Amino acid sequence: MAATTPINGPVGVVGSGTMAAGIAEVAVRHGFDVVVWARSRESAARFELRVRERLSRRVGQHSARESPPPGSFVVTSDLAQLEGCDLVIESIVELLEPKRVLFAQLGSLLPPSAILASNTSTLSIGQLAQVTEHPERVVGLHFFNPVPRMELVEVVRALQTADEVIERASAVARRLGKTPIVVADEPGFVVNALLFPAINAAVRLVERGVASAEDVDRAMQLGAHHPMGPLALADLVGIDVTVAILERLWAATGDPGLVPAPTLRRLVAAGRLGRKAGQGFFRYEERG
Ligand SMILES: NC(=O)c1ccc[n+]([C@@H]2O[C@H](COP(=O)([O-])OP(=O)(O)OC[C@H]3O[C@@H](n4cnc5c(N)ncnc54)[C@H](O)[C@@H]3O)[C@@H](O)[C@H]2O)c1
Repeated sequence: MAATTPINGPVGVVGSGTMAAGIAEVAVRHGFDVVVWARSRESAARFELRVRERLSRRVGQHSARESPPPGSFVVTSDLAQLEGCDLVIESIVELLEPKRVLFAQLGSLLPPSAILASNTSTLSIGQLAQVTEHPERVVGLHFFNPVPRMELVEVVRALQTADEVIERASAVARRLGKTPIVVADEPGFVVNALLFPAINAAVRLVERGVASAEDVDRAMQLGAHHPMGPLALADLVGIDVTVAILERLWAATGDPGLVPAPTLRRLVAAGRLGRKAGQGFFRYEERG
């Protein structure tokens, strides 16, 4: 693999949830040809509608000063269609086994020069790399939600990741208008290792009756100048995703403060998964 080979070919995105939609949208807007894989025809069709609608809004605002022109956008339920991609970004459910199955399949499908990235929030990039034929081309590309608005990308270096893969992945993040920082393969990396203990603590404050959900959020917005409160943030991230992240951080650290607060589990059991479900800690008029 040449040290500075830029990513010019199509970018694959694997998954059809919140983050996959954001990553696909931003990549198309920044001139990459994008191929998205969804696991069923139905979810592929739903995803395509959703992203095209968002693209028409945002690409409609595309100005002459903004370059390059948008790339193409294809959604498929056939994984083999990712074969020609220079970079594939996996963004499916935050569970190790389904991700490992996909990495094994993608590892044999893609040429060794292609980069295989995961958008995982907490899982080990090293463990994903282990199941592929060329573990040196596996890296974490951790985007933040909502992807079009958030400037940071954590570029996660596993022990196996080659230096040139870190460079090429960081260059892609910059081409997407983001600021990359390179982090070690530790659960939660930087941002989530700091953020999720705070979200869990906020839920526990509500459970103990210290303040209402609205006031806990108001407190952090007005008293700490956070742009949104921790509970609205949990709704944005997804309550199920929040629980998965806390469980992983808890398993890795043994810190009892990271045991997901009971309210989070009750919300998941009731299907109140946050914004994507129209309700979490708060109600939303629109899903997604
Ligand atoms: N939500 C966030 O704020 C956020 C931020 C950064 C990173 N992430 C990470 O991004 C990834 C996706 O999160 P999301 O919030 O988009 O989740 P989501 O719940 O919106 O979407 C998950 C997707 O995974 C698919 N899926 C579920 N099981 C699958 C399987 N067995 N095989 C293939 N596909 C399967 C679902 O169909 C869905 O398209 C996770 O790894 C998460 O940790 C999430």
